[in-house]
Amino acid sequence: MQPTTAFITGTSSGLGQALAETLLASGNRVYGCSRRASDLSGLRQVQCDLTDYTALPARLASLLSDLDRLDLVVLNAGILGRIEALHRLPMDEAKQIMEVNLWANKAVMDWLHDWGRPIGQVVMISSGASILGNKGWGGYALSKAGLNMLAKLYAHEFPETHISALAPGIIDTGMMDYLCEQADVEAFPALQRLRDARGTEAMPGPNRAAEKVLSVLPRLCEMPSGSFVDIRQLLDPKAYAKLYPGRA
Ligand SMILES: NC(=O)c1ccc[n+]([C@@H]2O[C@H](COP(=O)([O-])OP(=O)(O)OC[C@H]3O[C@@H](n4cnc5c(N)ncnc54)[C@H](OP(=O)(O)O)[C@@H]3O)[C@@H](O)[C@H]2O)c1
Repeated sequence: MQPTTAFITGTSSGLGQALAETLLASGNRVYGCSRRASDLSGLRQVQCDLTDYTALPARLASLLSDLDRLDLVVLNAGILGRIEALHRLPMDEAKQIMEVNLWANKAVMDWLHDWGRPIGQVVMISSGASILGNKGWGGYALSKAGLNMLAKLYAHEFPETHISALAPGIIDTGMMDYLCEQADVEAFPALQRLRDARGTEAMPGPNRAAEKVLSVLPRLCEMPSGSFVDIRQLLDPKAYAKLYPGRA
């Protein structure tokens, strides 16, 4: 992999931290942000709540203003919210998921647009949930479906940048602790697929998942800018066909 300058959101844990760690290990310059600090050595970072739209521009400026370009931006920060019937999900919880998973990414993209310097590739971390519509995934699924459209819409406004929304597959991060240990599998049967996959190759840890994401970056650029891509479509067509019958 060529040395890159990368900006990643959500670098304090999970996939974002693993992406940063992997890129740093191969000599890239990596810039990150999340509310908690990451202890990754070599990561240039700011602590920042991406939904604090008043503070965000100054935090991004202090982090990135010395750069003359970014090769890669990964909009990875996200929250799951509760697995719950949509009609029982309180409006404030639904709005908070949308705030982090959708509107905060608009705020970052708007800042990058004003920044005006070249950006090679933007990857927005989406989810299979954005199109599956499984019972209980309401707030999260809506926010990730919105993110897919955000990628498509910003493709018009960043004509020199390749943008994609990427479902990274299931990953054994903190999100899985809730999905596999606490959420109600009787009420929400789609949880069973995750529980069956945990501890198997079908659910890699964050470092393996990060390697996979980084390995598909060139292939994403072969698709039209703005596309939604599920990583299983590229790396594991059998799993993809099983997950999305009729789409393979
Ligand atoms: N795990 C999976 O199976 C899976 C599958 C499909 C898609 N994804 C997506 O992958 C991405 C990473 O998730 P993960 O599994 O790695 O979960 P994670 O370990 O919970 O990581 C989420 C990251 O987002 C950051 N974040 C959350 N809210 C934020 C806010 N308001 N401001 C700034 N940063 C914020 C968190 O940092 P702080 O808490 O320190 O702010 C953390 O670094 C998410 O977009 C998720 O939807 C995950």
